[in-house]
Amino acid sequence: MSVQAAIRRKTAPDIFARKGGEPIVMLTSYHAHTAALVDRYCDAILVGDSLGNVMHGYETTVPVTLEMMILQGRAVMRGSQHALVVVDMPFGSYEASKEQAFHSAVRILKETQCGAVKLEGGERMAETVAFLSERGIPVMGHIGLTPQSINTLGSFRAQGREEGSWEPIENDARAISDAGAFSIVIEAVAEPLARKITGKIAAPTIGIGASAACDGQVLVLEDMLGLSPRTPKFVRRYGDLGPAIEAAIKGYAADVRSRNFPGPEHVYGMKTRN
Ligand code: KIV
Repeated sequence: MSVQAAIRRKTAPDIFARKGGEPIVMLTSYHAHTAALVDRYCDAILVGDSLGNVMHGYETTVPVTLEMMILQGRAVMRGSQHALVVVDMPFGSYEASKEQAFHSAVRILKETQCGAVKLEGGERMAETVAFLSERGIPVMGHIGLTPQSINTLGSFRAQGREEGSWEPIENDARAISDAGAFSIVIEAVAEPLARKITGKIAAPTIGIGASAACDGQVLVLEDMLGLSPRTPKFVRRYGDLGPAIEAAIKGYAADVRSRNFPGPEHVYGMKTRN
């Protein structure tokens, strides 16, 4: 069997075909080693620009560059075999024009060999989503709370809390779906609105803080593992690894300081004394 046949990754059309079916499971990853773990259980892996917060300690995702996304995208591709890898287009790499978006997305696809890109924005990005999709670049949309717009939003607030504010978000979802997005992340959106959108558009919706009414879910891996300094309120924790990691580091530091440290004879079974 060829390598290609043995390692068949999920594709954007595979994810699109899951509309209304078995929920799509997605997590973020930025490293080869976590990608290998996530790959065993997830349909898709998002190399999110949240790496700016999680890996680099930035307050927002605004400082993240295309080079940072490509570097971590390559690591995740090396670590995974089966899941569709989606790489976020960072702030400033796609908004100026559909041509700018095309050149940035082509760099991401060529240099990481991932299967799709994700970009933020609704109606205003529809033309770009169509331009990319028609040219062989699968696009995942991202509407509702769009963290790259923090400087105009003013805060990371849930969207569509009152019914009166639903219409622009519904229009965003419809525009991006009609433009050819193969799926759409809906972030921090009230449950009845997420349900309404999910029932109306062709693209599967992937919720983050948007209820089980979506066609799938995504979380930031470090948030659900209890490793992020600030975790959004809607995140359900599946682990509390921070204290376990700290205990291990503390134990190591204590061993080094008290010279309680194994030598090579311990590791290789070498006999260094009689
Ligand atoms: O960057 C990211 O991790 C994301 C998720 C929060 C959906 O966009």
